[in-house]
Amino acid sequence: MKLTGRKILVTGCAGFIASHLAEELLARGNDVVGVDNLSAGKREFMSGMMGNDAFTFIEGDLLTMDLGRALEGVEVVCHLAANPDVRLGAKNTHIHFEQNIQVTYRLLEAGKDHGVKDIMFPSTSTVYGETEVIPTPENYGPLVPISVYGASKLACEALISSYCHTFDQNAVIYRFANVVGTRSTHNVLHDFIRKLREDHSSLEILGAEPGTIKSYVHVKDCVRGMVAGAEASDAQVEIYNIGSRDWMTVKDIADIVVEEMDLPNVEYHWTGGVKGGRGWVGDVKKMLLAVDKLEARGWSPELGSREAIRRAVQEILA
Ligand SMILES: NC(=O)c1ccc[n+]([C@@H]2O[C@H](COP(=O)([O-])OP(=O)(O)OC[C@H]3O[C@@H](n4cnc5c(N)ncnc54)[C@H](O)[C@@H]3O)[C@@H](O)[C@H]2O)c1
Repeated sequence: MKLTGRKILVTGCAGFIASHLAEELLARGNDVVGVDNLSAGKREFMSGMMGNDAFTFIEGDLLTMDLGRALEGVEVVCHLAANPDVRLGAKNTHIHFEQNIQVTYRLLEAGKDHGVKDIMFPSTSTVYGETEVIPTPENYGPLVPISVYGASKLACEALISSYCHTFDQNAVIYRFANVVGTRSTHNVLHDFIRKLREDHSSLEILGAEPGTIKSYVHVKDCVRGMVAGAEASDAQVEIYNIGSRDWMTVKDIADIVVEEMDLPNVEYHWTGGVKGGRGWVGDVKKMLLAVDKLEARGWSPELGSREAIRRAVQEILA
């Protein structure tokens, strides 16, 4: 899938990962149309692109808007808009159905009618559920998600694959580990930093000590991986894991945040968690993705989990 000199629609372009991807696509000489309803995304995240003649921003809701204008002349769709909050699924199942599955279906329908050739889609490690093989490779199965979010992304993967084979399109699907870095707005780092700004001496941590153990990847590595994977892809539907080669516990994360905030003597208070020590219902306890497939295509993450977390904490604090 070529990613230069093309007209590309980036959904969710005011969001964390998509704003970085859109910048990279512009830098590679593509025309980018961005759509976002600004429900979670921020205009300021697009400030580096707004003056660029090759960038057009459309404020709109993908669930209801007429997609024809956004798709005019578009060859590639990078569909990053979604509701990515895993916790939400235990309280409201409809949002993931609507914002993830239904929006993807609308976009696929409109895309096939407007001549879209290529699709890039960020899926998630949560599609694997709790795996018996770690690091987990892309061909692991059966896929048994334990969160509604994971299920919604798996449904999107299936829809995208079926459209490619039915309507002669191509797709690259990426299963991300936890992505961190500048412009993130909601994750464990924000939670810890907010709490520690309010109380310098104690930190409430969801779960049972030492918490879940997972892999983290910096957004710069993630976006580089997306581009490298797309450009190297030769299958009609290609799936790549994107993560770093190591993992770390929630306690390791807390230690780094405390260190970077220069707070001595912080006491950790573990809530004990739910369902055997998870932070929340649907929280996978162990996650480490095998990234050999994408590494064989010339990509490798510059930062490991700890370095990615440290860099992200510094970025948030700055
Ligand atoms: N951040 C991670 O760790 C992670 C991990 C795995 C997968 N992903 C996937 O990557 C993608 C981007 O995630 P993110 O962390 O950057 O999230 P984000 O919330 O920062 O970005 C999503 C963007 O989509 C927009 N949006 C949501 N619903 C919309 C709608 N109906 N119409 C128009 N715009 C809408 C939001 O305003 C936001 O700007 C998502 O698809 C997510 O599922 C993220």
